[in-house]
Amino acid sequence: MTYEETARKLRERGQEQILRFWGELSEEGKSSLAAQIGAIDWEQVALWEHPEDLSGKGKIEPIEGISLAEIARDRNIFRKTGEQAIKEGKVAAVLLAGGQGTRLGSDAPKGAYNIGLTHPLYIFECLIKNLLEVTSHAGAYVPLFIMTSEKNDAETRAFLREHGYFGYPGEYVRFFKQEMAPAVDLGGKLLLEEKGRLALSPNGNGGWYSSLSRAGVLRDFPTVEWINVFAVDNVLQRIADPVFIGATILSGKLCGAKVVSKAGPEEKVGVLCLEDGLPSVVEYYELSEEMANARDKTGQLLYRYGVILNYLFEAKKLEEIAGARIPVHVVKKKVPYLDERGELIRPEEVNAYKFETLILDMIKLMGSCLPFEVVREREFAPVKNRTGADSVESARELLKENGVEL
Ligand code: UTP
Repeated sequence: MTYEETARKLRERGQEQILRFWGELSEEGKSSLAAQIGAIDWEQVALWEHPEDLSGKGKIEPIEGISLAEIARDRNIFRKTGEQAIKEGKVAAVLLAGGQGTRLGSDAPKGAYNIGLTHPLYIFECLIKNLLEVTSHAGAYVPLFIMTSEKNDAETRAFLREHGYFGYPGEYVRFFKQEMAPAVDLGGKLLLEEKGRLALSPNGNGGWYSSLSRAGVLRDFPTVEWINVFAVDNVLQRIADPVFIGATILSGKLCGAKVVSKAGPEEKVGVLCLEDGLPSVVEYYELSEEMANARDKTGQLLYRYGVILNYLFEAKKLEEIAGARIPVHVVKKKVPYLDERGELIRPEEVNAYKFETLILDMIKLMGSCLPFEVVREREFAPVKNRTGADSVESARELLKENGVEL
């Protein structure tokens, strides 16, 4: 497409501002920007003004899970089954590390955050330590696929290489990059982050499987049947937990979700429920007050299974649902951008919409899911913010409680 055609198309969409610095670009810069423009999903961009109706939930009912007491009772058989699957090369792990951690306010990959006090202790290190506990007990490694984004791929790879993957064997580690999506300002205008570069942001964690398949790294491990996907920012995360794996396999379900009992009706956490008879994660704001407060005969919250972003997926089913569409969420975030004079602005307040798909929307497509309860204080220490709730401070306290020296 010529410049004139591109400019006309952008003008028609009210987006000609992204050509503002065209005259200053090299030939290479021009063709790179033109390629980025050609790749824009305009239907998605249009969602800023008319977001998809995500409130249209079906009939919500409580889902039956496996409680701490039930897990304790059958722990040995679950563990044996899970360890056997690990030994047979049936289990892989996917570390979701493509996010930007804007709330933490650091440009570095979140996993490279040093949470130590008297000695360095990186988030990646905490996670890999936890994984190594499992693999040394099972006597076999699990392939570890690490999802990065354009923004942090090089830095993440370099960081982990420099640290010798914190003791995990490199031949079991693979990286893959997630896709990016353009961000728009609060009036729907596409933003530039450089004169010849759109402000692109990682497109959420819901695209992890399509990005993993596209990267082809699963082909190196053809025996994999189960994939444990987890967030980078829970420093107590138990990865490839054999008890969880065994319980899911023996349940006959195609998916498992680690859950914690909600601290109270008001806790802001997605809850695993049934929606029209299928497992589904319902956001806290989608539960009516009555539902959030409802209790069962034993006095426990009826909708109590808070998800902690640690899921086990059956690989064949994932392949089957790979083409299915999941909703696009329009989220407000802080996105650095170039102003009219070409100066880079790092906003203090949210200034843009990003377009993201979320892994929690995949649960329904899996058709069946086992909520597997874990002890919050042992397995859930999210690092989202600098201070306060779910912060570096609260995660440090929880690490200490679990005997980790900081
Ligand atoms: P969050 O939803 O907390 O997003 O990610 P974030 O980008 O890390 O942080 P904020 O919201 O900007 O402060 C939950 C998990 O999903 C991963 C994150 O790395 C984290 O493990 N994630 C999120 C991705 O891998 N890609 C994304 O595009 C978004």
